[in-house]
Amino acid sequence: MAWPKRVRITEVGPRDGFQSIEPWIDTGLKISSVRRLFDAGADAVEVCSFVSPRAIPQMRDAPEIAAALAGTEELERAVALVPNRKGAELAAGAGMKNIAVVISASADHNMSNVRKTPGQSLEELRGIRSWHPELNVKLDIATAFGCPFKGAVSLDEIRFVLEPALEMGIDDICLCDTIGVASPALVREVVGSLMERYSESGIDWAVHFHNTRGLAAANTVAALELGLDRFETAFAGLGGCPFAPGASGNMATEDLIYLLDELGIGHGLNLDKILELSESFVAATGCCRDSKIDRVTRNKVFKQEEK
Ligand code: COA
Ligand code: ZN
Repeated sequence: MAWPKRVRITEVGPRDGFQSIEPWIDTGLKISSVRRLFDAGADAVEVCSFVSPRAIPQMRDAPEIAAALAGTEELERAVALVPNRKGAELAAGAGMKNIAVVISASADHNMSNVRKTPGQSLEELRGIRSWHPELNVKLDIATAFGCPFKGAVSLDEIRFVLEPALEMGIDDICLCDTIGVASPALVREVVGSLMERYSESGIDWAVHFHNTRGLAAANTVAALELGLDRFETAFAGLGGCPFAPGASGNMATEDLIYLLDELGIGHGLNLDKILELSESFVAATGCCRDSKIDRVTRNKVFKQEEK
């Protein structure tokens, strides 16, 4: 399989990143971050989630973020994560057109995250499809590479979630390494065998790697080698699941851009704009950033011409 010439990047910082930051982030700062990510060239941005404010207080201003996008061209590329039917109702009511429904392959993690078995979550998904056929649905299969509670996750557990979704006509599928436990070998095994097995299904695959163990870039290369061309990353390497002990940041968008540039693969994102956003966001919030490229750029460790 040839490497893709261009990949699409979904920026998940405003959702996966912000959800695990405890101190309140000003709604205006969230909205301006989303706008700057679109302006920097992100193909899609996960802008918020419609979840219980008790579970994730940081996401309670989701309706305001959706309202700020109303009537803009960006709304077409903005995604809201939802854990259940109620979330989909709220997202649709707030004018969102694209939702990401999260279901974990691991029953233990699904129970911890959304308090349902994967089977019950699939029922919620069925309800969402029939009540809101106008919503574009991406299915995020969480813990596809491992679970914080039970360890290894089998292909059968992934397929248990995937197959009914395919029957519901959902072909936008993201395999999420929620706890950053994937390795290039595991990516080849899991993503490679699924891509092969469902090669006739027209699935638009994406992967979502957390850099918990430092292998996100290696895993990205393994996925590119399989021909996969859609990646989810977060500016400044923000991110982490509050319901997965020990989880840490997403692969940094800055680092993905650098990797793709080095490999000569197109992506449409402006690295300087992402670096500027990370810089100003961190300055405003005091959050930590976790991006190698951000670090070398700030410290001027290395200049392009010295290579
Ligand atoms: N958005 C906002 N409120 C919601 C909601 C949603 N999507 N789903 C349920 N609620 C509300 C209910 O209306 C109810 O409110 P009330 O107590 O005022 O009547 C309350 O939450 C409890 O409802 P219930 O259906 O019993 O939910 P729960 O307590 O079992 O929690 C979730 C289930 C899914 C709502 C909750 O676990 C959640 O929001 N998880 C988010 C997980 C997440 O975002 N993880 C990170 C991303 S992968
Ligand atoms: Zn994540």
